[in-house]
Amino acid sequence: MVLSRLLGSFSHDIGIDLGTCNTLVYVKGKGIVAKESSVVAINTKTKQILAIGDEAQKMVGRTPAHIVAIKPLTDGVISDFEVTEEMLRYFIEKVHRKTFAFVPRPRVVIGIPYGVTEVERRAVEEATISAGARQVFLIEEPMAAAIGARLPIQEASGSMIVDIGGGTTEVAVISLGGIVASRSLRIAGNEMNEDIIEFAREHFNLLLGERTAEEIKMAVGSAYPLAEKKKVKMKGRDLVTGLPKEISASDEHIRTAISPSVMQIIDAIKTTLEETPPELLADIMDRGIVLTGGGALLRGLDTLISKTTDTKVYIADDPLTSVVRGTGLVLEDIETLKDILLPSEYQRISR
Ligand SMILES: Nc1ncnc2c1ncn2[C@@H]1O[C@H](COP(=O)(O)OP(=O)(O)OP(=O)(O)O)[C@@H](O)[C@H]1O
Ligand SMILES: [Mg+2]
Repeated sequence: MVLSRLLGSFSHDIGIDLGTCNTLVYVKGKGIVAKESSVVAINTKTKQILAIGDEAQKMVGRTPAHIVAIKPLTDGVISDFEVTEEMLRYFIEKVHRKTFAFVPRPRVVIGIPYGVTEVERRAVEEATISAGARQVFLIEEPMAAAIGARLPIQEASGSMIVDIGGGTTEVAVISLGGIVASRSLRIAGNEMNEDIIEFAREHFNLLLGERTAEEIKMAVGSAYPLAEKKKVKMKGRDLVTGLPKEISASDEHIRTAISPSVMQIIDAIKTTLEETPPELLADIMDRGIVLTGGGALLRGLDTLISKTTDTKVYIADDPLTSVVRGTGLVLEDIETLKDILLPSEYQRISR
């Protein structure tokens, strides 16, 4: 099949990080071409898609009755299949349309959380194929994150990666291209926002919106006491009067609010370390634990993890893009890295 090989070299194969909060796209030979919120706005009367990505994110919590802003992924897995497919189609076509019409549809490397069910994994494959991919390769997200963070995953040496996203936290110890010990929690950045909403309701009788809670977390959120105190104004509805209300909260308030989620993440890291063979533990002590995902940016989380585990902790460069850069490195070097991809149904069928 000389023709298909020739065409194959023209096609822009892509890597996708389909996240609960953010979807990122990498094009072979080009780098990251899209980084947008995983949100789709739909007109429920006409079933028409009004906006996808950041455009749709702006509408969350602000839609009139006939418009819904849907987040098609929950806790790292697809919860709305059709909308996920539409979102993937939008991203794939955006990349594909810029190339010549005769170029074959792209092959796609896409991340899935570690430890998802067969059904959840199949849903990602099917959505990617229906959205226009010619072939789909699956990769475990912690593996992609470790590759993106340039950890030596194929060596006989232990690396620990902790990917704290919006919906899931994935902790994995990797050696010789495989996951040796791991934990996957459905607690991450979104849960911290929920914690803040809960805290404001309980302590101040204040009802906050989801986006406001996230802004508060970004502005003053921390896992470990800060060198400099911070204050933030929390704006929402007074649950007693029903009217608008503003409360000034400190970094300490927010630290207390999110601490249940933070502690669960720490526990997951500790139990994973407890299950790690001693030789690999020694490697991790030398190399340190590496944090990726948006949650890695929470102030002082590295310090708290380091103090509670007695291990060095590093935050990966640009932690929000580790997974997609990992899928990109796999695309660029598929021969060396193909063994770490997961077997997929469609791979067999379309070959
Ligand atoms: N500076 C910051 N401080 C604290 N949290 C942050 C910061 N920046 C981003 N986040 C959080 O990171 C999360 C998004 O991270 P990321 O894009 O890695 O998640 P995702 O890949 O979409 O989700 P998942 O991997 O769980 O499917 C959000 O919950 C966001 O609030
Ligand atoms: Mg993620």
